[in-house]
Amino acid sequence: MTPARGSGGRRRAAGGDSDAVTALLEAIPFPCAAFSRGGSLAAANDAYREAFAGLDGHDDRTRLLASLDGGDGDDGDATAPREVNAPHSNRWYALHWGRAEVEGTALDLLTAVDISARIEALDSHKSQQEKLLFTSRLMSVGEMAATLAHELNQPLSAIVNYLNGSLRLVDQAGGPVQVERALVAARTQAEHAAAVISRVREFVRAREPRRDAHDVAEITHTVVELLRLEAERQQLRIELALAPGLPAVHADRVMVEQVLLNLVKNAIEAMREVPAAQRGLRIEGRVNLDGEVEVRVCDRGEGLSEEQGKQLFSPFFTTKSDGLGIGLAICRSIIEYHEGRLFFEPREGGGSVFGFTLPPSEDGGNGT
Ligand SMILES: Nc1ncnc2c1ncn2[C@@H]1O[C@H](COP(=O)(O)OP(=O)(O)O)[C@@H](O)[C@H]1O
Ligand SMILES: [Mg+2]
Repeated sequence: MTPARGSGGRRRAAGGDSDAVTALLEAIPFPCAAFSRGGSLAAANDAYREAFAGLDGHDDRTRLLASLDGGDGDDGDATAPREVNAPHSNRWYALHWGRAEVEGTALDLLTAVDISARIEALDSHKSQQEKLLFTSRLMSVGEMAATLAHELNQPLSAIVNYLNGSLRLVDQAGGPVQVERALVAARTQAEHAAAVISRVREFVRAREPRRDAHDVAEITHTVVELLRLEAERQQLRIELALAPGLPAVHADRVMVEQVLLNLVKNAIEAMREVPAAQRGLRIEGRVNLDGEVEVRVCDRGEGLSEEQGKQLFSPFFTTKSDGLGIGLAICRSIIEYHEGRLFFEPREGGGSVFGFTLPPSEDGGNGT
């Protein structure tokens, strides 16, 4: 920026010799200016003009302070030292005031020291800290998951064993078919929980997930089966709209089930307050224009505000009193691990669509 030389700096201070003051100010290596008691600029050095000439009101103390962010201090004392940001250059200055009498004229002398480097260092230190905090939170979630997985594994295998035993007894006794069905359903849930837990342990130990060719329809059916009870409890029918002959996806089956389960659970939870007649949950599957397999979970919940939509995938964002806010964050890392994309869009006619894409399996055939 070219200094607007003489734009007020050479004006005569009332009674004082502004040229002499200017000459003195020029000897100081950072922005300096002298203001009359009335607040108008009496003299300034080049460094001052270079720093502040581009700022609205640089030749008037009150307006100058008003133009600087942090300039209009709460104590109302214009000459209190302060750290300000100049919005036109985005640089930071420490302002200090002093008093001088030049040939009977009282002047307020302003020095402005550029402290941008220090402020930037502080800022980057702070964001470093925040990142660290974030990673350590994620790490403790990982540790928590590993501990939980370890603790839950034993009782879960015991549950599966008891269920198998009960099933044998019911079978031998020719017991009621409803009981048998309930026991099989319970075993399915327990086995799924055990599979999830063992994958969590693998994931936390950073072992490679296992990717094979899998049929999306089968994955979807497993998930719908797992959530059947919960859906019934909410008088909700899960409608399936899977395009026929979807290609198999190259994926870790349990992980993708986990993602779909999370999305459908969120959809069910989003409709908790919606009257039963208006609830609607639909899972769509299709091949999109890029040739990826795309699964979409469409609900008729309240939907999301734009603001919420932006925070959605950040860990620990939740609007539920009983929410953890890590479901979507985990879903996203799983899908991105699979070179897919997790997305959200408003649903036409109300509600939300949460979906993901997955690459088709190389061999192109239907999965196992
Ligand atoms: N289908 C949906 N409709 C409306 N809001 C949703 C939906 N799915 C997720 N959300 C919003 O995203 C937030 C984060 O979801 P999630 O990561 O699964 O954590 P949690 O379910 O524990 O709150 C939810 O609290 C909710 O505000
Ligand atoms: Mg959730």
